[in-house]
Amino acid sequence: MSNDIKFQIRDLLKQRNAVLLAHNYMRDEVQEIADITGDSLGLSLEAARTDADVIVFCGVHFMAESAAILSPGKKVLLPRPDAGCPMADMVTAEGLVELKARHPGVPVVTYVNSSADVKAESDICCTSANAITVVRSLNEDELIFVPDRNLGRWVGQYVPEKRFIYWDGFCPTHERMTVEAIKLKKAEYPDALFICHPESAPEVTALADHACSTSGMYDYCRTSAATKFIIGTEAGILYKLRLENPGKEFILASPALFCPNMKLTSLEDVLFSLQTLSPVISVSEAVRIKARAALDRMLAVPRD
Ligand code: 13P
Ligand code: SF4
Repeated sequence: MSNDIKFQIRDLLKQRNAVLLAHNYMRDEVQEIADITGDSLGLSLEAARTDADVIVFCGVHFMAESAAILSPGKKVLLPRPDAGCPMADMVTAEGLVELKARHPGVPVVTYVNSSADVKAESDICCTSANAITVVRSLNEDELIFVPDRNLGRWVGQYVPEKRFIYWDGFCPTHERMTVEAIKLKKAEYPDALFICHPESAPEVTALADHACSTSGMYDYCRTSAATKFIIGTEAGILYKLRLENPGKEFILASPALFCPNMKLTSLEDVLFSLQTLSPVISVSEAVRIKARAALDRMLAVPRD
């Protein structure tokens, strides 16, 4: 990849007073030139704090929507508008409204990997990093958890006093990681710790030494005394893990851990997006206000 395109992007970012965000699963070269890398919500919160006029979100659609919800005065660009999230698409606002009607008064906890329309129909959001704390903060002893059944079941283990009604969604990328693949890797690297994302299937998470969000993985691997890790989440995370921990070894748990949507955005797409100030991701004001309330309720929950 020529440095020329990177130079053009950095130059246009300055001209447009734009900030370039990249999710932890993006291609290496996109993470390399980003102003900020991180998890989906962390990125949107950081972007809202900057005085940039334009947010270029290298991630998937629901993430750019979260940025639009939190930064109504800024223009949010998603260089690849076709970068969606199959799990977020597994629940619609209409479907959630129907489920709520069958369980009146039961609060809805929605993972941030969801559309703005779905967030707007929810009581409170959560991320994989704070889901346990969010669920524990509820007064009710029953809740609807949307859309990730795997994250929901993982949280449920830590909050056995509450009854969960799970939506049947899942991340196809994490679900492709099989028990057999993990057992093989563990046999190949017996002295490595296995760390996985709670979007993984419960049988896989059960084999993990530690399950956490992508931001949690950076902290865990940096502070752990261990030097070898089998990583059970999307391959893009390896870029920064290796950069930040040159003395440690990181092994991808399964070759299936590639999210095609997360790999769509190229430097050419970023450049085109900055040149044309498109495609813009926006959320109607009525939906934005309701979705924002669900995010704000999450942000108001005291951290553990
Ligand atoms: P986090 O970075 O929030 O853990 O995200 C996981 C994920 O699958 C995003 O698509
Ligand atoms: Fe969606 Fe899974 Fe891809 Fe994340 S890794 S964008 S949850 S399909």
